[in-house]
Amino acid sequence: MTATLFRHGTIVNAHGRQNADVLVEDGVVTTVGKFGDSVPENAEVIDCRDRLLIPGGVDVHTHLDAPMFNTVTADNFYTGTVAAATGGTTTVVNFAQQLAEKTLLESTEVQHAQASGEAVIDYGFHQVVTDLYDGFGDHMVELADSGVSSFKVFMAYRGQLMIDDGQMYDILKRVGASGAKLCVHAENGDVIDRIANDLVEAGKTGPGVHEIARPPATEIEAVNRAIRISRMAEVPLYFVHLSTNGAVDAVGEAQISGWPIAAETCTHYLALSRDIYDAEGFEPAKAVLTPPLREDHHREALWQGIDSGVLSVVSSDHCPFCFSEKRRLGGDDFRTIPNGGPGVEDRMLMLFEQGVNQRRISLERYVEVTSASPARQFGLFPKKGLIAGGSDADIVIVNPGGSTTISAETQNQAMDYNLFEGSVVGASFERVYSRGALVAQDRKFVGKKGAGEFVSR
Ligand code: URP
Ligand code: ZN
Ligand code: ZN
Repeated sequence: MTATLFRHGTIVNAHGRQNADVLVEDGVVTTVGKFGDSVPENAEVIDCRDRLLIPGGVDVHTHLDAPMFNTVTADNFYTGTVAAATGGTTTVVNFAQQLAEKTLLESTEVQHAQASGEAVIDYGFHQVVTDLYDGFGDHMVELADSGVSSFKVFMAYRGQLMIDDGQMYDILKRVGASGAKLCVHAENGDVIDRIANDLVEAGKTGPGVHEIARPPATEIEAVNRAIRISRMAEVPLYFVHLSTNGAVDAVGEAQISGWPIAAETCTHYLALSRDIYDAEGFEPAKAVLTPPLREDHHREALWQGIDSGVLSVVSSDHCPFCFSEKRRLGGDDFRTIPNGGPGVEDRMLMLFEQGVNQRRISLERYVEVTSASPARQFGLFPKKGLIAGGSDADIVIVNPGGSTTISAETQNQAMDYNLFEGSVVGASFERVYSRGALVAQDRKFVGKKGAGEFVSR
């Protein structure tokens, strides 16, 4: 048996904090309490004086090994989970694309093969549904039974990923029957395509135009429509990557009326200004992600949504395409730039700075939105998202007096830029443990390739 005793730290869970010791045996937390001078025999002792112990981050929105937009995301399950671990995230739930000519079952199988033996932290999958072939619904039920209990649909990207409203209704019915959850990308794809085509016809082809082609109303309309469809199907849903004040309002109104819609936003919508779209040359392509970054009043509404509980999760939407790849595919036309940006490595640190240090949210709320709540939403709690007896020993030791500078120069993500370049975080993540094993120390990976396990949800 391996044992580790974390002594004298401040343990922060979503429900509160306490000064205590944490005993971990064989990868699981067995005791949270005061050990005094009686150290269990053979236990490695880690002195956590003046340190916070928080549950490892749970990032339920990543795109590793994802073929999209005529290319493949830059991080695979090895590099992407190394980046996650070094940034304090110990579980990812990744979007498995439905592959061309393949069923949902076959697509998930491919993703299992890509992750197994590669991932360095625990992982699960949401299966994306883009092609409703005969029998797709039975396959959804089978997948949910096998532990892949969430799915994603797109209301945008016609001809590539988009489904129509009737199909969303059909999928929701299947989701309801299987006890699974549906994640919805809410944007009015057809209107976006019209606006984008008009802009290109008017000679506006540069990467900054991406923002203009996807105005806030395209998200707000789709969110309202999806809520209506979900009510008609009598099956609630989960919105990914919300970016606007109107979307927060719509979700809040549904919740107040008793309809349990859940929703996330992402690090970049909270932390970044839309000003990058005004930059010279191809620079705005770094923020060609969907939905785009928004004006400050939307950012304020998102923070309020987190504070009030309307938004319960902050994800990274780590969908990494190198700057060079964006230029290769969309150098002449913003419509063909692959949509997405990196962030799995930066989410926990950026939120610590922007949320906790900037006094927008408490430490407990930080743990809630980065770990406990995503774990709850996707069937991982209390195994993940909690430091308590019986939970997996996924623990981050935080030095709140430390300092970290985020930069592409030092990152582990397989990327040639970082969206948060130069951000200074008033904290450092000194050690990260995944099921009791040290996986990262001072942002260096020290774990084992393939040590991550599939988590059935
Ligand atoms: O920019 C993004 N988000 N890329 C596509 C993947 C997604 O979640 O829509
Ligand atoms: Zn999406
Ligand atoms: Zn995404």
